Amino acid sequence: MQFPAPNRIAVRWSQHGTRSGFADMISRTLTRHGICAILSCAVLNCVVPSRAVLAQSSSTRLSPGQARGVADPSLDARVESILHSMTAEEKIGQLVQYSAGQPTGPGTGRTDYDDMIARGQIGSLFNVVDPHEVNKYQKIAMEKARLHIPILFGLDVIHGFKTEFPIPLALASTWDPSIVEKASRVAAIESSAAGIRWTFSPMVDIARDARWGRMAEGAGEDPFLGSAMAAAYVRGYQGSSLSAPDSIAACVKHYVGYGAAEAGRDYNSTEISEHTLRQFYLPPFHSAVEAGTASLMSAFNSLNGVPSTANPFTLKQILRKEWGFRGLVVSDWNAVGELIPHGIATDGATAARKAFVAGVDMDMVSSLYHDSLQQIVSSGQTMQSELDEAVRHVLRVKLALGLFEHPFVDESAAAKALYHPESIALAQTAAERSFVLLRNANGSDGKPLLPLANGFQNLAVIGPLADDSSYPNGAPQGSGPRISLPAALAQRVGEGHVFRFKGVGILDGTDAEMTAAVAGAQKADLVVLTLGESPEMSGEAASRAHLGLPGRQQELLEAIVRTGKPVVLILFSGRPLTLPWAFEHVPAVIAAWLPGIAGGPALARTLSGEVNPSGKLVVSWPRSVGQEPLYYNSLSTGRPPYDTDLTRPPANIAERYVSRYIDEQNTPQFPFGYGSSYTSFAYGVTTISTQRLSAAVLNKDVTAGVDVAAAMIVEADVTNTGSRAGEEVAQLYIQLRGTSVTEPVRMLKGFQTVAISPGETKKVKFALKPEAFAIWNAHNEFAAEPAKVRVWISPDSAQGSPAEAEILP
Ligand code: NOJ
Repeated sequence: MQFPAPNRIAVRWSQHGTRSGFADMISRTLTRHGICAILSCAVLNCVVPSRAVLAQSSSTRLSPGQARGVADPSLDARVESILHSMTAEEKIGQLVQYSAGQPTGPGTGRTDYDDMIARGQIGSLFNVVDPHEVNKYQKIAMEKARLHIPILFGLDVIHGFKTEFPIPLALASTWDPSIVEKASRVAAIESSAAGIRWTFSPMVDIARDARWGRMAEGAGEDPFLGSAMAAAYVRGYQGSSLSAPDSIAACVKHYVGYGAAEAGRDYNSTEISEHTLRQFYLPPFHSAVEAGTASLMSAFNSLNGVPSTANPFTLKQILRKEWGFRGLVVSDWNAVGELIPHGIATDGATAARKAFVAGVDMDMVSSLYHDSLQQIVSSGQTMQSELDEAVRHVLRVKLALGLFEHPFVDESAAAKALYHPESIALAQTAAERSFVLLRNANGSDGKPLLPLANGFQNLAVIGPLADDSSYPNGAPQGSGPRISLPAALAQRVGEGHVFRFKGVGILDGTDAEMTAAVAGAQKADLVVLTLGESPEMSGEAASRAHLGLPGRQQELLEAIVRTGKPVVLILFSGRPLTLPWAFEHVPAVIAAWLPGIAGGPALARTLSGEVNPSGKLVVSWPRSVGQEPLYYNSLSTGRPPYDTDLTRPPANIAERYVSRYIDEQNTPQFPFGYGSSYTSFAYGVTTISTQRLSAAVLNKDVTAGVDVAAAMIVEADVTNTGSRAGEEVAQLYIQLRGTSVTEPVRMLKGFQTVAISPGETKKVKFALKPEAFAIWNAHNEFAAEPAKVRVWISPDSAQGSPAEAEILP
């Protein structure tokens, strides 16, 4: 029984005027792809991995996504025929990749690409963004190299190519995989037009620690939501067929555990038990594999002492044997070379051998495969078979993309794919849906400050981030047509009514600038304060030990609030920031993340109430850095604080000897799943279709795969109790007690967005598949066990009263 999520695709597209041919093209692709069914599937738990599915996929069963993509059996004959004609040097060449443009890491390997390509020594280049350059290199491969094997061009197209979408953390905050899929489709259309047919995206690392700057690039802390988003990215990039000229190959990264970097410090070691790996960190990768991703990237980090780029357990046992992955594994930037500083190799040849034997097909940048593989494979038949297998993976991707038939890009057409009005409209919708209203307290008139009432005539827009909250580094390569927040506000209240003051810089600022801003605030009716991080302060190599406002921004914030004027604080950041003072003293706060090309108008529409915020947090928002890593789906301890008052230090033994801080609460500032609205919603009682389940029956169905009937129907009424129409993301959580291993206090197992008119009640309904009740148990099996079950439908991960059920043997 299926209860599809509302299909909002057409609605969203038509919101922004007449559909063009371009919009139709995107929409047709999504429809061909059966997006409605896929969305409902995500809601209904199809993305949760099952051991049975894992086991079967290795040989016989391919998911439809895999079969449509690089695993397509019809590619086999051509792969073998090309392989048969290759020399060892040409085979190794296919496994070698260099950066031939703006570097995205230290060092770029070699630079004599022209000669190397002519000799068949390069399989892939990346960071080439100009279609003319793409064709120049491709011409050498197609005309001078003996076998005319096309080069595969890659790039970090992370949240758009030229049309810049909100950062992935923001896109995930929409809780809408269809938005992610459409944004990725636009990114594919734009980048493929420049000849880039491979993106190093999505990043599906589970991120539980806001100190880690790359939290910005992922979908947050939850494996269920992360799995739905991972599949959506793959579908969007790869379209209905990889061979379509506007499809690009996805590269799911960073395999695996990279987001668990100790102390949130980028590139740091990780220690993750196999149980935690399988239950939390692997599911988004598996979901992407099932959706047909063409490639994966092996991560920098060591995992339980073994660098992920030399880990046969994750790369061969899990990825190839259990999941049946037939695509390409590329190392991260110089990750093969980094096996030396990791300490598992003392020379380049050993590093190359360890990565190669573990299952890394392509060496990004280090040049060690180029230097050493010849000698390694000459050592025997096994190594030669390994080489053939790695080359097959590369050829499969190139063949699936149709690169042999269409190696060149039409340079004159590239610009026409960019900044299409529908793409910018989609970026705006995505931004609007990504904003999380964190706080909206009543003003002196007893009404919430937002949306802005007509009485506010003169607005002071203060702060260093009002004019450009874009993401200049990394993926988006262009600037495009942008309207800043002050300009977008001026369009609504009139040019003469918006006053702009910088106040301070992101990291610096003078007393004079601060004084001018305070004076400006005093003359205005309301202050829109734009504070936070610069785009460079999140993403790769941007870990932070302090998560407050950088520079003098806190000082500015307090000075502006002291004026007594109503203040709306818009936070720009790639992660949650610890701002307890702001959450106590500022009436209205919006997390705007890094909202992309249409952030200005999206924010103006949100402030004015043309848009009612519906985004919800995909990461727990900490009160203090010391709480990190902080995530809602933590395990219970043996000494939970229960109802101890944690807002004050322990007063007695009972209050002290529990799992707590003596100087901070355990709870986050805002929990995972939280997001306020200009209206209010009330949740009815959660009801369940059965209070008794059988572990034996559940496990039979888990073994049977994903197309089995629901094990439990869960329902609740949601009422819009306010005076505005709004959209609410209803969330379904479960908890299992009495199991062989400690399970989280809650686990997300479903979500759906419902649009509800004022006064209206809608029933939300989830069909939980058997997999929802299965866990990675003490025997390292994915199975349901006898347990007590709690089930909540709630507005976030911290509210609701559960319905209770039991899983009997
Ligand atoms: C290193 C990053 O970790 C990875 O995400 C990226 O794809 C590569 N550099 C290539 O730029």
